[in-house]
Amino acid sequence: MDKNQARLKIEELTHKLNKHNYNYYVLDDPVISDYEFDQLLKELERLEQQFPEFTRADSPTQRVGGQVIKKFKTVRHKYPMLSLGNTYSKEELQDFDNRIKKTISESYSYVCELKFDGIAIGLTYKNGSLTQAVTRGDGVEGDDVTHNVKTIGSIPLRVVANDLPEEFEVRAEIFMPHKSFIQLNEEKQKNNEPLFANPRNAASGSLKLQDSSLVARRNLDCFAYGLLGENLPHQSHFENLQKLKEWGFKVSKLTRKCENIEEVLKYIGEVESQRTKLPYDIDGVVIKINDYRQQERLGFTSKFPRWAISYKYKAEQGVTRLTDIAYQVGRTGAITPVAILEPVLVAGTTVKRASLYNADKMEELDLHYFDTVFVEKGGEIIPKIVEVDTGLRQSDAKKIFFVSNCPECGTKLQRNEGEAIHYCPNTETCPPQIQGKIEHFISRKAMNIEGLGEGRIEVLIQNKLIENIADLYDLKYEQLLGLEKIIRDEITGKEKKISFREKTVNNILTAIENSKKVTFERVLFALGIRHLGETGAKKLARHFGSLENIMNSNYDELLTVPEIGDRIAGSIVSFFEDNKNLQIIDKLHHAGLQFETESITITSSENLPLAGKTFVVSGVFEKHSRDQIKQLVEENGGKNVSSISSKTDFVLAGEKMGPEKKKKAEQLNIPVISEKDFIEMIS
Ligand code: IVH
Repeated sequence: MDKNQARLKIEELTHKLNKHNYNYYVLDDPVISDYEFDQLLKELERLEQQFPEFTRADSPTQRVGGQVIKKFKTVRHKYPMLSLGNTYSKEELQDFDNRIKKTISESYSYVCELKFDGIAIGLTYKNGSLTQAVTRGDGVEGDDVTHNVKTIGSIPLRVVANDLPEEFEVRAEIFMPHKSFIQLNEEKQKNNEPLFANPRNAASGSLKLQDSSLVARRNLDCFAYGLLGENLPHQSHFENLQKLKEWGFKVSKLTRKCENIEEVLKYIGEVESQRTKLPYDIDGVVIKINDYRQQERLGFTSKFPRWAISYKYKAEQGVTRLTDIAYQVGRTGAITPVAILEPVLVAGTTVKRASLYNADKMEELDLHYFDTVFVEKGGEIIPKIVEVDTGLRQSDAKKIFFVSNCPECGTKLQRNEGEAIHYCPNTETCPPQIQGKIEHFISRKAMNIEGLGEGRIEVLIQNKLIENIADLYDLKYEQLLGLEKIIRDEITGKEKKISFREKTVNNILTAIENSKKVTFERVLFALGIRHLGETGAKKLARHFGSLENIMNSNYDELLTVPEIGDRIAGSIVSFFEDNKNLQIIDKLHHAGLQFETESITITSSENLPLAGKTFVVSGVFEKHSRDQIKQLVEENGGKNVSSISSKTDFVLAGEKMGPEKKKKAEQLNIPVISEKDFIEMIS
């Protein structure tokens, strides 16, 4: 294929893929299979690799992501991103309309839209191509998240139309549909990672991921709700929204033009009744004056436009009776009280449990048995009790007090001074705590033993096959085959059957066997030493080279390792003082786990370029993250310290370094060097 043919083919494939993408993500009406789509995409990828000169920034191949951004650039908005005044009352909406009438004497129309509960984004297009996507930030400046946004299928990367302004900005909301949210949390639960509380947090967390290929897997979606710029096709909002639809943006079908406030109120009522059936979260509706000239005449208050307002729906409440309190014991021994309720329908789902957070919250509500309570389902997964109807309480109702002993193992609970949480101190034999330790041990970033999630650990503990992490290495095929149990998911309430069939058992045993090859730094992390995270474990492993060396070090020696402070050092010492832990380690050693770094390369640090030099690294850097810089310091024989003293040799300063540090460095006459100087020093 010659160059010209390649260019034409690339254009043709781009056009086809954009069209199919639009059919799939915006119209929700695909005409080809996923497989056929992937084949076209692969063909385009191949051609772009062969003829990179024809790869455009708005090519459909950009959607798979891959670019890793260390720190998002801060960008100033061309048009400030304002927020809206809001109200929960229909009377106030009437007042809003009356205020408009005072300024606008002729007739006017409103545009009513859903108020999507996601993250606001400004999408800039130049000559039809998406060039920049910026978050709201403080309204004046936001983060440039273009690479991440390009992975969202319902956002066009290229717009082709004959009435397109040379440059325009689309205001839109990025959100995570319920389906994707549930899927993501299920995956997180499997990997023993913390869950997102609601779809909004999940969308926001996803947009801030550094690796855009991970964002591509999060199934985010986007509704456009505004068009800004010069030479726009129309001088009114509703008509421009129709234009956006024509240009390939996803605009909600529920957007409606209303001729007066009565029609607006009707719209609000209609949306409210459909709200729980929508496949994404909304928290209200937005009402905007349609005509741009009228918008201009109405202008702005110091904070909000006078031509728009949002009407928010109250979080849905239900009234029911409290029947009991259950106490959940977490992996760290933390006790969470949960209210058990007579089932009640709230916001389309049956609520049977509500979170009570801690003893203080329970005390604040002054709960008594069989109290009538109001439960509310906000944006969170778990509903909460917001109020007690004390008027309905029987005079002899008994007050509920927080438990004094662990409901799982009976040990007396502890509460540290100044903390709201009660703990069960029995870390060794309290079943949920054992389970927590094992779940951590097998998790992806630790030993990565797949196949044991989804409640299987619980089954093994209940069958007394394992009591601690080392017991995993004694498990036999015959012991596992045929085990089964019905488990109820705490979050979704769904029941599922856990069974150990032949294939599962083989997979589990293979995964356990394979874990014997996992590197020492991950084994160290997997041991679950309190406060010792992934990075700390890495540093320790590299510094000491073996578990034996770590066990033979005292508190002061541990403190010499970068990143290891008194809290971690203390926790390491007490971990290895505990006989029970030593027995487990011994067993793991015999099982054949890696207790040494692969090759203990004792490079004499004296020969390294930064040997003997002490650095304070501060601020934000252009080419590296702060952690990377610190790692480079160590790899080159230097030492990181956190505060400047007369013993500091260099202060490595990035942007936004604190003025106090700067002053101190000057006072002590310590050279302040840049990232560039530093790279020169080590190269
Ligand atoms: S218009 C000046 N329309 O609500 C008008 N905003 O409080 C500015 N939002 O940060 C916004 N759906 O993220 C508008 N249909 C909609 C919206 C919407 C959700 C969010 C947006 C903004 C916040 C304003």
